[in-house]
Amino acid sequence: MFYQIYPRSFKDHNGDGVGDLRGIIEKLDYLSWLGIDVVWVSPFFKSPMEDFGYDISDYKDVDPLFGTLSDFDKLVSEIHRRGMKIIIDQVYNHTSDKHPWFVESRSSRNNPKSDWYIWKDPKPDGSPPNNWVSLFSGGEPRSMWEWDDNRKQYYLHLFGKEQPDLNWRNPNVKSAIFDSMKFWLERGVDGFRFDAASHYYKDPLFRDALKGPQIKENLFHSARDEYYWDRFSGRPETLLAVEEIKRFMDSYGEKVSVGEISADMGLCLYLLFTIPGRFDIAFNIDFMEKLSLNAKKVRELSENVDTFFGERAWPSYVLGNHDNYRIINRLTDGMNISEYEKKLIAKLAATLLLTMRGTPFIYYGEEIGMEDTDIPYDKIVDPWGKALWPKKGRDVCRTPMQWNNKENAGFSESAPWLPVNLNKAYVNVESEMKDPNSILNFYRSLLKLRKEHVELRRGTMKFQNAPSDIIFYIRKVSEKQVVVLLNFGSTVQCVDLTIYGKVLIGTHKNAGEKIHGAVRLAPFESIVIKVS
Ligand code: GLC
Repeated sequence: MFYQIYPRSFKDHNGDGVGDLRGIIEKLDYLSWLGIDVVWVSPFFKSPMEDFGYDISDYKDVDPLFGTLSDFDKLVSEIHRRGMKIIIDQVYNHTSDKHPWFVESRSSRNNPKSDWYIWKDPKPDGSPPNNWVSLFSGGEPRSMWEWDDNRKQYYLHLFGKEQPDLNWRNPNVKSAIFDSMKFWLERGVDGFRFDAASHYYKDPLFRDALKGPQIKENLFHSARDEYYWDRFSGRPETLLAVEEIKRFMDSYGEKVSVGEISADMGLCLYLLFTIPGRFDIAFNIDFMEKLSLNAKKVRELSENVDTFFGERAWPSYVLGNHDNYRIINRLTDGMNISEYEKKLIAKLAATLLLTMRGTPFIYYGEEIGMEDTDIPYDKIVDPWGKALWPKKGRDVCRTPMQWNNKENAGFSESAPWLPVNLNKAYVNVESEMKDPNSILNFYRSLLKLRKEHVELRRGTMKFQNAPSDIIFYIRKVSEKQVVVLLNFGSTVQCVDLTIYGKVLIGTHKNAGEKIHGAVRLAPFESIVIKVS
């Protein structure tokens, strides 16, 4: 069970309004109380912070904003001391434009690093080499190519123009990347999350995308990735590089690799990137983006993942991350519902996440029911968010963790880098720890159940027919069975159960309650049943 920490927003130890590594250390007892196995820390490396750390200017150092290398060593040992593991982000599709490699590369056409990035001459009319559109486009398509007046050439950037793409075809680039992995493996990390890993290699001919510039209407208006199939998403060279990465990591013992794989081709790329010998896990963005309160669709979604992966590879499930709106908002915005129902829906999503066959990822704050925070235009800091205005950007899901109801939600002594959500008054760790019916205690119990019942971790998952608002599945390992019933609708539903069982956890029924025959499910009710 993974827990993603966005370090800027988890806990500020030194009181500058930005979270840091020492802050994470302060809160490790909380994560171990919650029952987390693996802590994933998003980028804390040296960075000009144009993309808040996903633009790295030194792969082998900690940004002073977050602390020092010795703080990091302390973090690793404190995590291990508590029996947990740590993985960190590795961003190897691109660097920051302030990285010394790029500074050198752009200085001339013939310096030793001139070929470390992707440089191309303009077309005869001076325009960019092809029609590729940046994934960070915003409302308008923006070229993936940025003109450099010094080299009189364009360089490629899949994301922001401050994030030039590395040239993986240059062997020196590759060795520098492996060298940086080595650095962190030797410091004791248990694995990596590979950012934008399906994009490493680009079409050697740099052909135009088939359908030209296209912008997605949903979510963040990024460029449509599926039109880049074979241009830079999931190219065979990238799969071979992933196999090398895997072999390299394996030489350090038991390490885990999580790939951020483009979701626009559906599950196909996930499987390609996670068959044995490649990454261990593809972070399931597809599931995260498609999850809704439509039981039929969600069943289809999960069943597809499950049958498609089968025994071939191991799936994962995700409700939210630092690039998406908070799960509660995505499920309930625009609905006319009470706070009580909202809480039930958060628990419904949690039950689904933590009882399916696949590794679950929890995004910080999800376990207390954090919601998107309204951010006025002048407080928006994400450059992509500014381009999206008045549509919500990514800042809304990156606001400070709500530890208590005090000033700045107990996150920091000073004004935080992003505003705190006003609902910290009741959505916060301190008060939810005391409330047996809180979302937090519900998560904690589910995590405990997953540890205690092997069928929830390893069992098969078989979906059963049920009324249209209900999701009903059985997790099973030999004789051990758990039944999950989830009412995704706002009306009472009835399911006929032939098994005899006892409630393990539920939103309406008490643990231990006997179950058999007709089971009545209240609106948005979740029940997990141990079959006896
Ligand atoms: C990934 C990260 C995102 C970042 C982008 C560029 O998609 O999750 O936050 O902006 O890569 O590194």
